[in-house]
Amino acid sequence: MLNVALPKGRLGEKVYEMLSESGYPCPEMEKDSRKLTFENSECGVSYFWVKPSDVGIYVERGSADVGVLGKDILFEYMPDVYELVDLGIGKCKMCVASKKDFRDNTEKTLRVATKFPKIATEYYSGIDRDIDVIKLNGSIEIAPLLGLSDVIVDIVETGKTLKENNLEVIKNIMDISARFICNKVSYQFKNDEVIKMADALKRDRL
Ligand code: PRP
Repeated sequence: MLNVALPKGRLGEKVYEMLSESGYPCPEMEKDSRKLTFENSECGVSYFWVKPSDVGIYVERGSADVGVLGKDILFEYMPDVYELVDLGIGKCKMCVASKKDFRDNTEKTLRVATKFPKIATEYYSGIDRDIDVIKLNGSIEIAPLLGLSDVIVDIVETGKTLKENNLEVIKNIMDISARFICNKVSYQFKNDEVIKMADALKRDRL
């Protein structure tokens, strides 16, 4: 049995669709319910839905053999796992954004609001800029509007949230897409099953 951690939300649903079409269906998952774990013993798979930022923890600790998460989360949390496939979906960018009239005063510490303190810290230390990181958990775009921060470091997908809040991108930091990851012990002891699933996802991606 291969245990698969899927991120709750649109990305996870898309990945489940890909897996279902590749020979790992689990019809029970397609019903509208609040259930979080599902199993299809016939095709040797069990799925569970977790918060996207927790996928790496489940896989690193072996509660899940494999999982799917965005490169942003891999970069931020650095779980000790193997990254096997770039699924080519969930594409977006990690950006610095600000109010349209923002001008950086380099004599002052820059206040940066973000859900990704590590990514923000690494980016600004790379350009030698002093920052004060303000860690938030969501709706980051509000921070500069309320004067809590000068800029934000956040994910931009369509750009709609920025636009509707009168913010603009001032720098692209990195491209992001969904990755298929594997627990290091499972890679050794369930290698055939893991590779089979990775190959099925690769085929689907092409
Ligand atoms: C993400 C991100 C932006 C938004 C970008 O938020 O933090 O707010 O999506 O998408 P767009 O460019 O297509 O508008 P999410 O939906 O994950 O919610 P959150 O604010 O609670 O983090």
